[in-house]
Amino acid sequence: MNIILLGPPGAGKGTQARFLVDGRGMVQLSTGDMLREARSSGTEMGRRVAEVMDKGHLVTDEIVIGLIREKIEAGQVGSGIIFDGFPRTLAQADALEALLAEKGMRLDRAVEMRVDDEVLVDRVSGRSTCANCGEVYHDQTKPVPSDGHCSVCSGTKFNRRADDNAESLRTRLMAYYKQTSPLIGYYYAKGILVAVDGLREIPEVAEEVRRVLDRSETVGA
Ligand code: AP5
Repeated sequence: MNIILLGPPGAGKGTQARFLVDGRGMVQLSTGDMLREARSSGTEMGRRVAEVMDKGHLVTDEIVIGLIREKIEAGQVGSGIIFDGFPRTLAQADALEALLAEKGMRLDRAVEMRVDDEVLVDRVSGRSTCANCGEVYHDQTKPVPSDGHCSVCSGTKFNRRADDNAESLRTRLMAYYKQTSPLIGYYYAKGILVAVDGLREIPEVAEEVRRVLDRSETVGA
């Protein structure tokens, strides 16, 4: 099963992707993670990407489609792919469909994670991530264990993102509403849209994601 996690910054896409990786052996392809890797490479492309990301704007379609193509062509598909943060524009959605068709694959579900904007500032400003394994934490709702070791890999270094501030979040949200939210209608029309309430506790959202992926009904069907 190949799925998309669709939702605004801080909706919980990365958090839920990790449950699916652990529980179902799926592979998470996060364009945000790939771009953060590119920016730390010190190349000219990485420097340009960093400038765009820090302001909260979208990186060009050409770059992100190229990154996804590379991963799929490398055969990183596991028991299914979770596209996390991709596609984000209609052009990316069309490119993904064409790319999957080329490989004899298809998209089975687009999971819309519904949240209210008010919670997002708190979520992103409290976020930290294990530098070693990528486990996502939050100062209030999922704090780093008191011994300072990651609960997954025992790592001791945790990163905060440069774009996790109120100003950049406003731009990211605007980009979401202008460029990404039209994809909700796009996948509804394709009959593969499902939705979960992303405002509930993390394990409850995980349970709802599991349920919507296991049943055949989609939104409006
Ligand atoms: P990206 O890294 O994709 O960021 P994003 O979409 O803005 O999403 P986030 O990673 O901020 O949030 P999330 O939904 O994964 O939430 P998380 O699980 O971490 O993109 C970053 C940038 O890269 C973009 O702005 C753009 O510049 C560029 N980019 C990336 N992809 C691109 C593309 N396709 N095209 C063009 N440009 C692209 O959770 C957030 C926090 O909340 C955590 O602390 C977590 O513990 C907590 N939390 C999660 N769920 C809950 C819950 N249910 N209750 C309480 N707390 C929760």
